[in-house]
Amino acid sequence: MSSTINGPTFDEVFRRVRDSARTKKPVVGLTHKFYKYPARFSPEFVATVLECFSRPGDLVLDPYMGGGTTVVEAVARQRRSVGCDINSLAVFVAKAKCTALNASETKALLAWALDIVPALNYMTRSTDPAEQDDRLKNLTGPKVRAVKKIICLALESIDSLPSNNAREFAKCALLNTGQWALNGRRSAASAEEFRARLGATLAEMVGAIELFGKRMFESPSIDAPILIHDSAEYLPTHPFFGSGNRVDLVITSPPYPGVHILYHRWQVDGRKETAAPYWIANRLDGQPSAYYNFGSRKERSLDAYFAASLRTLQGVRAVMKRGAKFVQMVAFSNPGEQLDRYMWNMKQAGFAEDLLSDGRGARAWRDVPGRSWHAIQKGATMASKELVLVHTAV
Ligand SMILES: C[S@@+](CC[C@H](N)C(=O)[O-])C[C@H]1O[C@@H](n2cnc3c(N)ncnc32)[C@H](O)[C@@H]1O
Repeated sequence: MSSTINGPTFDEVFRRVRDSARTKKPVVGLTHKFYKYPARFSPEFVATVLECFSRPGDLVLDPYMGGGTTVVEAVARQRRSVGCDINSLAVFVAKAKCTALNASETKALLAWALDIVPALNYMTRSTDPAEQDDRLKNLTGPKVRAVKKIICLALESIDSLPSNNAREFAKCALLNTGQWALNGRRSAASAEEFRARLGATLAEMVGAIELFGKRMFESPSIDAPILIHDSAEYLPTHPFFGSGNRVDLVITSPPYPGVHILYHRWQVDGRKETAAPYWIANRLDGQPSAYYNFGSRKERSLDAYFAASLRTLQGVRAVMKRGAKFVQMVAFSNPGEQLDRYMWNMKQAGFAEDLLSDGRGARAWRDVPGRSWHAIQKGATMASKELVLVHTAV
């Protein structure tokens, strides 16, 4: 069994990675609290994988980046980083988390939080044409009216901020507060609660980006991550890879077979879905859930899922160095049927699995709700849901 570049044996590293994935700690640190992206990674897991399988200066890719946990952790550890996600909301969030602010932007944002936000008044007339925006569908009931109006007014006031970076940052604070105020709640927050929370959130985010910016500047040779708003299928055609750059390590979590996640909606007023996050971030929407999940919930065979997964894995393999590791966390609705197909895809795309050398080829599983891990024999099935897999590009 291969050992890692940093010394310890693969078995030792595998156990470390498995233990880090077991963490029950809340997601904190760096800029991770900017937005609760659905199905996001534990930063502790990503940090452990980075430390075990890469060195400063290495190129790290997350082809299903989501809210950017991998790119943030990679940049903080002086790795070069590329993230890719077809969801424009994911790219918006990851960009806000990795874009340092200058002193005048910071000053303007804090003044906005201190002077403008507390004065946003429900009774003020809003001229924002977004009131007629399709992305506001289902954001209509009396329970959400106050929050919606304050968001409208806040979006108008953001125009006065001095740069695009500052405006995007303020929108991200609004997105964070909007998620807290509207998503999955029985009744939305009041206007007063919303204003207070928005000011406090923005101040906290400014503090976090200041510290993160310092970590980025400690290593002037490391650029901000390259963020690609496109399918991983198109990675090989990107000019960055066209000019010969190759990936040293992949850390990722793909869409899961048979498990559908609402990456692109909030739920308001019971379970009504709203595209309000795209309205706040000013990004395009219009895609159904199947677009983000590699296929429709209605399709029982999962053929579309496995075809899409194979295409993207082949695209990822094409931009990796031979011998580079691919570490992923993946969940299954029915591991007994889906795991073998998933592993076949990995093999077809040019990856060989790294297993513990204890003679039984154990893998590491986790029950999603119970958060406990089990090592089971290769090929056996169980009712647990999530799995950490380590592969080598061959
Ligand atoms: C499980 S989430 C990743 C969450 C991420 N690890 C985090 O910490 O936020 C999977 C992501 O894959 C993205 N995705 C789905 N199909 C894709 C494709 N063809 N290319 C790139 N990203 C895709 C989805 O939009 C979703 O954001």
